[in-house]
Amino acid sequence: MSAPMRHVSQSCQRRILSCIRLTGNDESNARIFSAFSTYFTSKKTVLGIETSCDDTGAAVVDNGGRVLGEALKSQIKIHVEAGGILPPVARNLHVESIGGVVQEALDRASMTVHDVDAVSVTVEPGLALCLKVGLDHAKSLVRLSGKPLIPIHHMQAHALTARMTNRVDFPFLVLLISGGHCLLTVARDVADFVLLGESLDDAPGEAFDKIARQLNLKNLPQFTSVSGGVAIETMARQGDPKSFDLPLMLTQVRTCDFSFSGLKSQAKRIIAHEEKRQGVSRDDVLPNAADICASFQYGVLKHLARRVQRSLLFCELSGLLPKHNKTLVVSGGVGSNQFIRTGLQKLCDMYSTHLICPPPRLCTDNGVMIAWNGIEKLLSGQNFSAANPEAVDFQPKCPIGEDISSSVRDAAIKLPPLKLL
Ligand code: KG4
Ligand code: ZN
Repeated sequence: MSAPMRHVSQSCQRRILSCIRLTGNDESNARIFSAFSTYFTSKKTVLGIETSCDDTGAAVVDNGGRVLGEALKSQIKIHVEAGGILPPVARNLHVESIGGVVQEALDRASMTVHDVDAVSVTVEPGLALCLKVGLDHAKSLVRLSGKPLIPIHHMQAHALTARMTNRVDFPFLVLLISGGHCLLTVARDVADFVLLGESLDDAPGEAFDKIARQLNLKNLPQFTSVSGGVAIETMARQGDPKSFDLPLMLTQVRTCDFSFSGLKSQAKRIIAHEEKRQGVSRDDVLPNAADICASFQYGVLKHLARRVQRSLLFCELSGLLPKHNKTLVVSGGVGSNQFIRTGLQKLCDMYSTHLICPPPRLCTDNGVMIAWNGIEKLLSGQNFSAANPEAVDFQPKCPIGEDISSSVRDAAIKLPPLKLL
């Protein structure tokens, strides 16, 4: 099948099939008819909708992992200006954008909602007001089209995106690092995850955002409309990661849990001290902000790497991952950070583990990952579609899977030294 034919809408496919049927009855036409029909009937497409936080995303993806149409409206500029995400503001922005974003994704795919096989939508976890906008819109679409509704767990979708971009077989280890979450999990199947550890306080993206704000990075023209994480990563390229010593968190606690609040507080103390020492006003950017960014980013990497190191050893001990061909997937907004990726690559090399990171634009929130998760669920052989779409509800809090962090604690694995720089 030629590549352009893969993007033909279902109504168009029906027309092609009826033309072949009408124009000939010889053997070769029959063969062509059969090839087209097998191809078209085996192809699945899902429209995915994401509104769990501050991005309104929609995409149509097929079972080959091709993105047929995508649209994304980020609210980041408004939230950066306001100094953080206010849920009612985020909700109103989703309400404004959702119709246009979904239509744009369908238009780019040359499809209507009647052409897709299902509609998938993030229903958990996330901001209640925001989840509701996406879910309500998805319900209106399935009401109109009669298509199945597939509810999606936002963090599971982040984790499985790697299977769209790379060959990754179950089971595999996943580090999800974003603005709202930080967790280590083993993905055993499409909807079967075990939780090894998670953040006890802040998520790393949250810490990046707060430190960027404390450093007034948004007052620099190049950072007015990017996330704090992107601003810090960019600044850090000009800085020395060893210029300031930040504490390594939870060194005495032999778990895979995380903590970023101590790191964040220490970085804030350093900023306040430097502002005083250099006589810099609280609205200005410190001349040595790049060094602070680089040191903070290195502090985050060291903590992440130590917890991933323990998770790899725990998986070896408990047989959660195969002995050979182990894979670590890193995803979520912070997973797009190249410095962190490079550090984790070093760790993976030491433990004979493949490191897979989806491309940065698929690490942050988007509709593609929700559509892909819908495809995975559709093809899994299990029925993940809602029996009664109208009764589907959203869950602001929802664990990714069975919590086995107490087993990790009981194993009390002591870590060998690790050198990342
Ligand atoms: O996954 P995501 O788009 O949304 C959540 O589900 O949270 O992640 C957004 C978070 C923000 O906190 C942002 O500062 C952070 O990811 N982030 C980064 C980078 N790009 C985005 N953090 C560090 N380095 C980056 N390059
Ligand atoms: Zn996310």
